Amino acid sequence: MKEHLKSPVFKTIAQVADENGNEAYVIGGFVRDLILKRPTTDIDVVVVGSGIDLAREVAKELGGLKVSVFKNFGTAMFKYRGMDIEFVGARKESYQRNSRKPIVEDGTLEDDQNRRDFTINAMALSLNEKSFGELVDPFGGLKDLEEGVIRTPLDPMVTFSDDPLRILRAIRFATQLGFRIEDKTYEGIVAQKDRLQIISMERVAEELNKMMMSERPSLGFKLLEKTGLLPMILPELQDMKGVEKVRGIGHKDNFYHTLEVLDQLVPYSDDLWLRWAALLHDIAKPRTKRFDPKLGWTFHAHNFVGMKMVPKIFKRLRLPQNDKMKFVQKMVELHMRPIVLSEDEVTDSAVRRLLFEAGDDIDSLMTLCEADITSKNEVKVRKFLRNFKLVRQKLKEIEEKDRVRNFQPPVSGEEVMKTFNLPPCQTVGEIKSAIKEAILEGEIHNDYDEARAFMLRKGKEMGLKS
Ligand code: CTP
Repeated sequence: MKEHLKSPVFKTIAQVADENGNEAYVIGGFVRDLILKRPTTDIDVVVVGSGIDLAREVAKELGGLKVSVFKNFGTAMFKYRGMDIEFVGARKESYQRNSRKPIVEDGTLEDDQNRRDFTINAMALSLNEKSFGELVDPFGGLKDLEEGVIRTPLDPMVTFSDDPLRILRAIRFATQLGFRIEDKTYEGIVAQKDRLQIISMERVAEELNKMMMSERPSLGFKLLEKTGLLPMILPELQDMKGVEKVRGIGHKDNFYHTLEVLDQLVPYSDDLWLRWAALLHDIAKPRTKRFDPKLGWTFHAHNFVGMKMVPKIFKRLRLPQNDKMKFVQKMVELHMRPIVLSEDEVTDSAVRRLLFEAGDDIDSLMTLCEADITSKNEVKVRKFLRNFKLVRQKLKEIEEKDRVRNFQPPVSGEEVMKTFNLPPCQTVGEIKSAIKEAILEGEIHNDYDEARAFMLRKGKEMGLKS
């Protein structure tokens, strides 16, 4: 592994540790990612001794770098060539980067490795001169990495009760790396799942977001469902699972459909919030589901009801209550529009209205809608995609012509009031919205002169004097 530890920082650590007679290792996620060839900038160094002292001395050797010291936790860190390097003394307690618990007991490397979350995260590479680059892997982490297995180093009951966030971390790593969770570890998750309740929602959401940003987020959500964790985190998503039948007629399983949409979106967008929109686009289907003897299953207004459910879900998960959430709401609200549009004849006014409502988010909306096609019928899929292409083309043409994407009324309320000598009142609003309607319907262009002429005509019709 020597060749992987090229950065001069490792040599300096080795030198200082040797001079002080300390054992030092690079450990955890950095070693895992090095072997997997995943890019990483976080380096964790464990020393059998004081992490703070070693950090200070190494920083001095490297030219007096600024060290941040967290005395309570016995850790210190500095930045070096774009990397965050954290130093910690080997310990007997469970290692948790974000833990607020102060550390008390020093330990050996073995103690430290024992208290880590998974075998693949417990490997260490020696930094001392005589053993530089040697792998210390007491639990077969390398083999698990090669075979794609998530396994706790100790009895899973111990590892998970040390820190229940690890229940979610197991699923998150399985998702990110496409790994299988080993049977006993899996059983440990199921047995300890209720302990997740003591974990803050911020940390839960952080793990969810990491799953969302992986190559196949569906893996994570399926595991959350299978292990029984999903109702604690996203009961609304759990409710989507299953197929009801009336008179032998079933609807699709909206849980699996949603996950398929999410996976299909991944290659086309790495916007976390658009991925959330994909996860939540049909969230109100269980609530709006009805069986109509003539129409079969209907989910009337599920987009509107869904849009209204988003803030509560975001609040519970401590996700931002800002424009990101509003964007997700907008996507949920509008997610059926392009498809309805492409089913009918694609008229200019329908396209103009969609552009007006979606504004700058129109491309995201189209991407979401294309991912929403999950039919197994290839002919159908091809037809939809062809229609969408047409919609996209039309959107471009109309936007070039009418610029309604970020609609600003060409005639202001001020001007309406001045022209007809009106105070601020309902009539002003009526005239303004009539102008907007005329533009969206294509009666006039989105242009000042045409809008002004239209306003004068409209005023006259309403008996106003200009
Ligand atoms: N660790 C642990 N238990 C936790 C969190 C972390 O045992 N609940 C240990 C693992 O050895 C992990 C290391 O601390 O590899 C660093 O943790 P962290 O930076 O949170 O995770 P990484 O494994 O580096 O992965 P990522 O950056 O993807 O979160």
